Amino acid sequence: SRFWLVVPAAGIGQRMRSECPKQYLKLHQRFILDVTLSRLLDSGLFDGCMVALNPRDRWWPDSVAAGDERVQTCTGGAERADSVLAALQALAGQAADEDWVLVHDAARPCLHPHDLSNLVDSLVEHPVGGLLAAPVADTLKQTGGGQPPEVDSTVDRSRLWRAFTPQMFRLGALRCALASCLERGLPVTDESSAMEFSGYTPVLVEGRSDNIKITVPADLALAEFLLAQQDG
Ligand code: C5P
Repeated sequence: SRFWLVVPAAGIGQRMRSECPKQYLKLHQRFILDVTLSRLLDSGLFDGCMVALNPRDRWWPDSVAAGDERVQTCTGGAERADSVLAALQALAGQAADEDWVLVHDAARPCLHPHDLSNLVDSLVEHPVGGLLAAPVADTLKQTGGGQPPEVDSTVDRSRLWRAFTPQMFRLGALRCALASCLERGLPVTDESSAMEFSGYTPVLVEGRSDNIKITVPADLALAEFLLAQQDG
Protein backbone atom coordinates (compact mmCIF):
# COMPACT_ATOMS: atom_id res chain seq x y z
CA SER A 1 0.00 0.00 0.00
CA ARG A 2 1.00 3.62 -0.41
CA PHE A 3 1.99 6.07 2.34
CA TRP A 4 1.33 9.79 2.62
CA LEU A 5 2.73 12.25 5.12
CA VAL A 6 0.64 15.08 6.57
CA VAL A 7 2.37 17.72 8.70
CA PRO A 8 0.18 20.28 10.45
CA ALA A 9 2.33 23.44 10.67
CA ALA A 10 -0.34 26.15 10.80
CA GLY A 11 -0.12 26.94 14.51
CA ILE A 12 1.08 30.26 15.84
CA GLY A 13 2.89 28.83 18.88
CA GLN A 14 1.65 31.32 21.47
CA ARG A 15 3.34 29.53 24.37
CA MET A 16 6.81 30.18 22.86
CA ARG A 17 6.45 33.98 23.27
CA SER A 18 8.56 34.50 20.12
CA GLU A 19 8.16 36.69 17.04
CA CYS A 20 7.68 33.79 14.67
CA PRO A 21 5.69 30.54 15.05
CA LYS A 22 7.66 27.80 16.77
CA GLN A 23 8.07 25.64 13.65
CA TYR A 24 10.30 28.43 12.28
CA LEU A 25 12.53 28.72 15.32
CA LYS A 26 15.94 27.22 14.68
CA LEU A 27 17.66 24.03 15.83
CA HIS A 28 21.34 24.03 14.89
CA GLN A 29 20.65 26.81 12.33
CA ARG A 30 17.75 24.98 10.64
CA PHE A 31 14.02 25.65 10.90
CA ILE A 32 12.35 23.12 13.22
CA LEU A 33 9.97 22.37 10.33
CA ASP A 34 12.92 21.55 8.05
CA VAL A 35 14.46 19.25 10.64
CA THR A 36 11.13 17.45 11.11
CA LEU A 37 10.40 17.10 7.39
CA SER A 38 13.86 15.92 6.41
CA ARG A 39 13.89 13.22 9.09
CA LEU A 40 10.55 11.84 7.84
CA LEU A 41 11.23 12.19 4.11
CA ASP A 42 14.72 10.65 4.44
CA SER A 43 12.96 7.40 5.36
CA GLY A 44 12.01 7.00 1.70
CA LEU A 45 8.64 5.67 2.86
CA PHE A 46 6.35 8.35 1.47
CA ASP A 47 4.73 8.80 -1.93
CA GLY A 48 3.99 12.43 -1.10
CA CYS A 49 3.76 15.00 1.66
CA MET A 50 1.24 17.75 2.44
CA VAL A 51 2.16 20.54 4.86
CA ALA A 52 -0.67 22.70 6.25
CA LEU A 53 0.40 26.33 6.63
CA ASN A 54 -1.13 29.35 8.30
CA PRO A 55 -2.71 31.77 5.80
CA ARG A 56 -0.45 34.49 7.25
CA ASP A 57 2.73 32.41 7.11
CA ARG A 58 5.66 34.55 5.89
CA TRP A 59 8.49 32.11 6.58
CA TRP A 60 7.75 29.04 4.46
CA PRO A 61 9.50 30.42 1.30
CA ASP A 62 12.75 30.57 3.33
CA SER A 63 12.55 26.89 4.30
CA VAL A 64 14.62 24.21 2.59
CA ALA A 65 11.45 22.13 2.23
CA ALA A 66 9.84 24.81 0.01
CA GLY A 67 12.31 23.79 -2.72
CA ASP A 68 11.68 20.05 -2.28
CA GLU A 69 9.55 18.64 -5.10
CA ARG A 70 8.14 15.92 -2.80
CA VAL A 71 6.51 18.55 -0.58
CA GLN A 72 3.17 20.24 -1.27
CA THR A 73 1.37 22.82 0.86
CA CYS A 74 -2.20 23.77 1.67
CA THR A 75 -3.88 26.29 3.95
CA GLY A 76 -4.55 25.08 7.49
CA GLY A 77 -7.47 25.94 9.77
CA ALA A 78 -8.33 27.36 13.17
CA GLU A 79 -7.45 24.22 15.17
CA ARG A 80 -4.93 21.47 14.57
CA ALA A 81 -7.73 19.08 13.51
CA ASP A 82 -8.96 21.60 10.92
CA SER A 83 -5.44 21.82 9.50
CA VAL A 84 -5.12 18.04 9.26
CA LEU A 85 -8.52 17.72 7.59
CA ALA A 86 -7.59 20.46 5.08
CA ALA A 87 -4.39 18.53 4.22
CA LEU A 88 -6.30 15.26 3.77
CA GLN A 89 -8.78 17.00 1.48
CA ALA A 90 -5.91 18.52 -0.50
CA LEU A 91 -4.50 14.99 -1.04
CA ALA A 92 -7.84 13.55 -2.16
CA GLY A 93 -7.11 13.82 -5.89
CA GLN A 94 -3.79 11.94 -5.60
CA ALA A 95 -4.36 9.46 -2.79
CA ALA A 96 -6.77 6.53 -2.40
CA ASP A 97 -8.97 6.03 0.66
CA GLU A 98 -7.18 2.73 1.44
CA ASP A 99 -3.74 4.40 1.46
CA TRP A 100 -2.03 4.98 4.79
CA VAL A 101 -1.47 8.49 6.07
CA LEU A 102 0.98 9.37 8.82
CA VAL A 103 0.21 12.66 10.59
CA HIS A 104 3.18 14.18 12.40
CA ASP A 105 3.45 17.48 14.29
CA ALA A 106 5.85 20.01 12.77
CA ALA A 107 6.89 20.70 16.35
CA ARG A 108 8.24 17.14 16.97
CA PRO A 109 11.68 17.24 15.32
CA CYS A 110 13.28 14.52 17.48
CA LEU A 111 11.33 11.55 16.11
CA HIS A 112 13.82 8.68 15.94
CA PRO A 113 13.99 6.78 12.61
CA HIS A 114 13.63 3.48 14.52
CA ASP A 115 10.33 4.67 16.01
CA LEU A 116 9.04 5.59 12.56
CA SER A 117 9.90 2.21 11.07
CA ASN A 118 8.64 0.37 14.15
CA LEU A 119 5.28 2.18 13.94
CA VAL A 120 4.87 1.29 10.28
CA ASP A 121 6.05 -2.32 10.68
CA SER A 122 3.72 -2.81 13.67
CA LEU A 123 0.60 -1.42 12.00
CA VAL A 124 0.87 -2.09 8.27
CA GLU A 125 -1.21 -5.29 8.53
CA HIS A 126 -3.69 -3.76 11.00
CA PRO A 127 -7.18 -2.79 9.79
CA VAL A 128 -7.34 0.53 11.68
CA GLY A 129 -3.86 1.84 12.58
CA GLY A 130 -2.59 3.62 15.67
CA LEU A 131 0.03 5.90 17.12
CA LEU A 132 3.34 6.21 18.90
CA ALA A 133 2.88 6.62 22.65
CA ALA A 134 4.69 6.03 25.93
CA PRO A 135 3.55 5.02 29.42
CA VAL A 136 3.19 7.93 31.84
CA ALA A 137 6.21 8.21 34.15
CA ASP A 138 5.12 10.90 36.61
CA THR A 139 2.70 10.44 39.50
CA LEU A 140 -0.58 12.09 38.48
CA LYS A 141 -2.77 14.21 40.78
CA GLN A 142 -6.43 15.02 40.30
CA THR A 143 -7.60 18.37 41.70
CA GLY A 144 -11.02 19.47 42.88
CA GLY A 145 -10.80 22.42 40.50
CA GLY A 146 -10.40 25.14 43.15
CA GLN A 147 -7.75 27.86 43.54
CA PRO A 148 -5.12 27.20 44.78
CA PRO A 149 -5.30 23.71 43.32
CA GLU A 150 -5.61 21.10 46.06
CA VAL A 151 -5.09 17.38 45.65
CA ASP A 152 -8.31 15.45 45.41
CA SER A 153 -6.68 12.09 44.69
CA THR A 154 -3.77 10.32 43.06
CA VAL A 155 -4.70 8.83 39.71
CA ASP A 156 -3.83 5.22 38.87
CA ARG A 157 -1.32 5.68 36.06
CA SER A 158 -0.76 2.01 35.24
CA ARG A 159 -3.01 2.18 32.19
CA LEU A 160 -2.27 5.77 31.12
CA TRP A 161 -0.12 6.57 28.09
CA ARG A 162 1.09 9.80 26.52
CA ALA A 163 0.01 10.18 22.88
CA PHE A 164 2.73 11.20 20.41
CA THR A 165 2.91 11.47 16.66
CA PRO A 166 3.19 10.08 14.03
CA GLN A 167 -0.37 8.76 14.07
CA MET A 168 -1.06 6.32 11.25
CA PHE A 169 -4.51 5.61 9.81
CA ARG A 170 -6.26 4.80 6.53
CA LEU A 171 -6.66 8.08 4.70
CA GLY A 172 -10.36 7.77 3.89
CA ALA A 173 -11.37 6.60 7.37
CA LEU A 174 -9.41 9.40 9.03
CA ARG A 175 -10.86 12.06 6.72
CA CYS A 176 -14.43 10.91 7.49
CA ALA A 177 -13.74 10.66 11.23
CA LEU A 178 -12.24 14.15 11.45
CA ALA A 179 -15.00 15.71 9.33
CA SER A 180 -17.74 14.12 11.39
CA CYS A 181 -16.17 15.04 14.77
CA LEU A 182 -15.54 18.65 13.74
CA GLU A 183 -19.10 18.92 12.48
CA ARG A 184 -20.41 17.59 15.81
CA GLY A 185 -18.12 19.90 17.84
CA LEU A 186 -16.37 17.01 19.60
CA PRO A 187 -13.04 17.68 21.37
CA VAL A 188 -10.55 16.31 18.84
CA THR A 189 -7.01 16.81 20.12
CA ASP A 190 -5.32 14.24 17.90
CA GLU A 191 -6.19 11.92 15.01
CA SER A 192 -6.68 8.98 17.34
CA SER A 193 -9.40 10.79 19.29
CA ALA A 194 -11.33 11.39 16.06
CA MET A 195 -11.03 7.69 15.21
CA GLU A 196 -12.10 6.69 18.74
CA PHE A 197 -15.20 8.94 18.56
CA SER A 198 -16.03 7.19 15.28
CA GLY A 199 -15.94 3.75 16.90
CA TYR A 200 -12.47 2.55 15.87
CA THR A 201 -9.89 1.07 18.25
CA PRO A 202 -6.41 2.44 17.48
CA VAL A 203 -3.30 0.56 18.65
CA LEU A 204 -0.58 2.11 20.84
CA VAL A 205 2.98 1.45 19.66
CA GLU A 206 5.51 2.22 22.37
CA GLY A 207 7.93 4.92 21.29
CA ARG A 208 10.87 6.74 22.81
CA SER A 209 9.95 9.41 25.34
CA ASP A 210 12.42 11.84 23.71
CA ASN A 211 9.91 12.38 20.85
CA ILE A 212 9.08 15.72 22.48
CA LYS A 213 6.75 18.41 21.19
CA ILE A 214 8.44 21.78 21.32
CA THR A 215 6.07 23.90 23.39
CA VAL A 216 8.01 26.27 25.67
CA PRO A 217 11.36 28.06 25.10
CA ALA A 218 13.37 25.59 27.22
CA ASP A 219 12.35 22.79 24.85
CA LEU A 220 14.62 24.26 22.12
CA ALA A 221 17.84 23.56 24.04
CA LEU A 222 16.54 20.14 25.01
CA ALA A 223 15.72 19.30 21.37
CA GLU A 224 19.21 20.37 20.22
CA PHE A 225 20.72 18.15 22.88
CA LEU A 226 18.51 15.17 21.94
CA LEU A 227 19.28 15.55 18.22
CA ALA A 228 23.03 15.77 18.84
CA GLN A 229 22.80 12.67 21.03
CA GLN A 230 20.91 10.73 18.33
CA ASP A 231 23.51 11.69 15.71
CA GLY A 232 26.41 10.77 17.96
O1 C5P B 1 0.00 24.09 19.47
P1 C5P B 1 0.37 22.64 19.41
O2 C5P B 1 1.72 22.36 19.96
O3 C5P B 1 -0.68 21.72 19.95
O4 C5P B 1 0.45 22.31 17.85
C1 C5P B 1 0.80 21.02 17.37
C2 C5P B 1 1.02 21.09 15.86
O5 C5P B 1 -0.20 21.44 15.19
C3 C5P B 1 2.05 22.15 15.47
O6 C5P B 1 2.90 21.58 14.50
C4 C5P B 1 1.19 23.29 14.94
O7 C5P B 1 1.84 24.06 13.95
C5 C5P B 1 0.01 22.54 14.35
N1 C5P B 1 -1.22 23.35 14.27
C6 C5P B 1 -1.87 23.53 13.04
N2 C5P B 1 -3.01 24.30 12.95
C7 C5P B 1 -3.52 24.91 14.05
C8 C5P B 1 -2.88 24.73 15.31
C9 C5P B 1 -1.74 23.93 15.39
O8 C5P B 1 -1.41 22.99 12.03
N3 C5P B 1 -4.60 25.67 13.91
